[in-house]
Amino acid sequence: MTQNTNNVFASKLGALLAAAGSAVGLGNVWRFPTETGANGGAAFILIYVLFMLLLGVPMMVSEFAIGRHGGSSVAEAYDKMCGGKRGWKYMAAIPFISGFLVLSYYAVVAGWTLFYAVTAGMNGFAGKEAQDFTDGFVEFSTNPYASTFWVFIVLALTCGIVALGVQRGIERGAKIMMPLLFLFIVILAGLSLTLPGAGEGLRFLFQPDFGKISGNFGSIMLSAMGQAFFSLSVGLGTLCTYACYFRKEDDLMKDGLNVACIDTLVALMAGIIIFPAVYSIPGLEPGAGPSLVFITLPNVFNQVFAGTPFLAYVFSLLFYLLLVMAALTSSISMLEMSTSIFHRQLRLNRRLSALICTIVCLGLGMLCALSFGELSDVKIFGLTFFEFFDFLVAKLIMPIGGMLCCIFCGWVVKENVLRSELTNGGTLSVPLYPLYRFLIRWVAPICVLLIFANELGLLSL
Ligand code: PHE
Repeated sequence: MTQNTNNVFASKLGALLAAAGSAVGLGNVWRFPTETGANGGAAFILIYVLFMLLLGVPMMVSEFAIGRHGGSSVAEAYDKMCGGKRGWKYMAAIPFISGFLVLSYYAVVAGWTLFYAVTAGMNGFAGKEAQDFTDGFVEFSTNPYASTFWVFIVLALTCGIVALGVQRGIERGAKIMMPLLFLFIVILAGLSLTLPGAGEGLRFLFQPDFGKISGNFGSIMLSAMGQAFFSLSVGLGTLCTYACYFRKEDDLMKDGLNVACIDTLVALMAGIIIFPAVYSIPGLEPGAGPSLVFITLPNVFNQVFAGTPFLAYVFSLLFYLLLVMAALTSSISMLEMSTSIFHRQLRLNRRLSALICTIVCLGLGMLCALSFGELSDVKIFGLTFFEFFDFLVAKLIMPIGGMLCCIFCGWVVKENVLRSELTNGGTLSVPLYPLYRFLIRWVAPICVLLIFANELGLLSL
């Protein structure tokens, strides 16, 4: 294997950690608790896990198969997989465009996490009251200089790592950040379980109450599906891009299942950190929306550890560092999508490609950052830039991209090509292959279509 080139992950573990790094991100530690809080807790989680298994994992495995079979870039990968049929190479437009869209708004929240980590590190939360946190967040997120400054820092860090290349940048970054992330999450969950609200928090997370979702079933299904796709990073071609750097001997089905397990585990652990803490303060509700992590939590950390300021300091610092690392390993995969297309298709050098993509993201990211303040009145279909980009990515492009990817693998690609890719040329036994094939041919496309039909009012779930 060409392990000394910089176009392939050097080790099996490196590839797994890079893919898991893409999947584990703000989607797990920020979006998941927010969506779970807003959609009624455990019942939502059940639907989410179902979508993850039935749609998310098969899509991920399909992206892996396409990417690795092609071995070079997403456009070539699609082309090669179907033997150059009917312009499927234009599927590469999805990662190219969505790489910009997703990173632009993701970098805004990643910037907030970085600012909060720095503030926590300087003990900036000590002695603050509940109202101070609300005021502080509003002041920060609406301040045009502060919010764009942190977007810039996040993008600069991301660009630096991507510019270093597959092994020296992406893989090394994942190998350093992912183990730290797991360590922090275990420490934080352990601490959180000692809090007085642990029982109630765990009940909210794990005891389904279907009454809470009955009135709003259709939109909760869409949210759960959007969350499953977002959290696994499927549908945009991110994993397909990474899979171009996988080694021929990797077991794609196993990797897909491992990434999904790690991702779900981290999301649940984030819930175990957050909800017991929230329930430990009387009168607080978990459905606080996007501000949960930035307004409710720092206040909660301060209050629950009021008697032991050192613990309050450690808890908030570790928590925001955890968010920063989760965000960075994902933002790296986002930038790599568009960068690799400039690099591979247009044959620009990697550093220049990363720089061009970063500059585009910075422009769009500033629009998203400013949509909390100066540009809050500028609306597209009633949504601010930030909300519009999130809607486009999580609720539109991801399901459509994921569905097309399944249709491609299930119906367009020759069966023996797909089977041979997943079994490494017949050398691996993959007992789940028939189930996987059924899911990508029938279940995934039909589910996505049904949920869209419901959203458009053609059905009423
Ligand atoms: N899965 C990432 C998260 O959970 C987000 C992501 C989406 C990353 C799309 C890459 C592509 O935060």
